[in-house]
Amino acid sequence: MAGRAWFPEALEGKLVVLRRHAPENLAAFRRWYSDAEVARLARYQETPMRVDEIERFFQVRALGDDSLTMAIHERATDRLVGTCSFSQVDGDNGSVMYHITIGEKDVWGRGFGTEATRLMLEHAFDTLGLHRVALTVFEFNERAIRAYLRCGFIVEGRAREAIWRDGRWWDEVGMSILATEWQARRHRASTDTPSRADASVPTSTGAAP
Ligand SMILES: CC(C)(COP(=O)(O)OP(=O)(O)OC[C@H]1O[C@@H](n2cnc3c(N)ncnc32)[C@H](O)[C@@H]1OP(=O)(O)O)[C@@H](O)C(=O)NCCC(=O)NCCS
Repeated sequence: MAGRAWFPEALEGKLVVLRRHAPENLAAFRRWYSDAEVARLARYQETPMRVDEIERFFQVRALGDDSLTMAIHERATDRLVGTCSFSQVDGDNGSVMYHITIGEKDVWGRGFGTEATRLMLEHAFDTLGLHRVALTVFEFNERAIRAYLRCGFIVEGRAREAIWRDGRWWDEVGMSILATEWQARRHRASTDTPSRADASVPTSTGAAP
């Protein structure tokens, strides 16, 4: 990533505000990434990260210059609830990988993840001029898949039976959204009534599980 100039100070939504991470956010990372349920949903290994792994991950992912990572704050209270990130920045092809963790489990399912993802996509496509944002998600993570579909991600493939969890194999689902698709959604949203635009969930290339 070409230095901190790529990082916005803040991205503001209705429910959440994304801000740059501060060193004191490490305490929250320790709590989130040592949680077994978060690990089950987001980690290749069955067990959570060790403390030293979390600290290294925080330094590299949240504070380092190789990814664009924002802290997710609940707008109403300013409480730090999660983190979202672009990694594997490929400047030649305008492509990044997207990651998100809402670590505070009491706010799951309240729209924060969807809005944070939309804010990151807006930054990626409208400000940075990127071409493609991609991610992978385990097929049993229905909440995450639902949120990604809402934001316009499309299922583009699956790594079959890549994950052993809860006593069986699961696919790892690959999803992406292209700049043209993002612009088309924006155009639709500006010409549709707000409620219809909000409710549109693209399923054209195959619904996620
Ligand atoms: C995945 C995650 C970012 C989603 O953020 P969130 O704020 O909880 O989700 P949202 O409220 O924005 O959206 C969730 C969607 O799933 C639906 N949903 C909520 N709980 C659900 C559940 N248990 N099963 C299926 N769908 C569910 C909601 O109705 C909503 O869909 P809709 O907008 O079409 O109604 C967040 O839950 C999280 O960080 N989880 C733990 C870590 C993780 O899984 N990270 C992603 C790894 S790829």
